[in-house]
Amino acid sequence: MPEGTTQPFVTHVLKAEKIVFSEYDHHIQRRLSAMKGQYLDQAAYQALLAREDALLYEVYEMRRPEVPGELLFGLSIVHPGIVGQEYFMTKGHFHTVLETAEVYYCLRGEGFMVMETPEGECKVEALRLDSVLYVPPRWAHRSVNTSSDTDLVTFFVYPGHSGHDYGSIEQQGFRKLILARDGRPEIVDNPRWHSPEKRKK
Ligand code: PA5
Ligand code: NI
Repeated sequence: MPEGTTQPFVTHVLKAEKIVFSEYDHHIQRRLSAMKGQYLDQAAYQALLAREDALLYEVYEMRRPEVPGELLFGLSIVHPGIVGQEYFMTKGHFHTVLETAEVYYCLRGEGFMVMETPEGECKVEALRLDSVLYVPPRWAHRSVNTSSDTDLVTFFVYPGHSGHDYGSIEQQGFRKLILARDGRPEIVDNPRWHSPEKRKK
């Protein structure tokens, strides 16, 4: 791929058992060990990790210069699975440049995008085949796969200079959790979450 150039290029979404790009620059694999402290049920997390450092999600990225005017895009693939009662999910992040948005297009599977602002406003939107989701500037975002057997695959695109800020989410997670209750997803309050006012105290 023409890194650092402004030449047009094309890649193709290949839909087979896995969905991948015909060409890409970077393949990230995020395993259970990278999600320390992120799942509510720490005992279940440790037990699962002792058995296997499971592959939770993958990202295929097109690398572009990380500057305003450029767009970064790729495919996010969250595999099906559960830790305790919590579905496999991405780490989730704010953009370092808060005033940058992102668009997601769902190519396969089902799940939710969990979102919140630094002020603690929160929103959970369902994702299914052909859903187009707009994540406005200032909203942290995490994708959650609620299927028991199918990957949640999304195409994403965001401004080149956005950056990823994982720190704030790592501290206490999102305000809402998606838990499997009687085999169905339920949106519940995260007991570890405190409002921005309380956090300061
Ligand atoms: O920029 C995005 O929002 C996506 O490309 C995500 O990075 C991707 O879904 C993986 O999630 P995370 O970066 O939170 O690990
Ligand atoms: Ni993002």
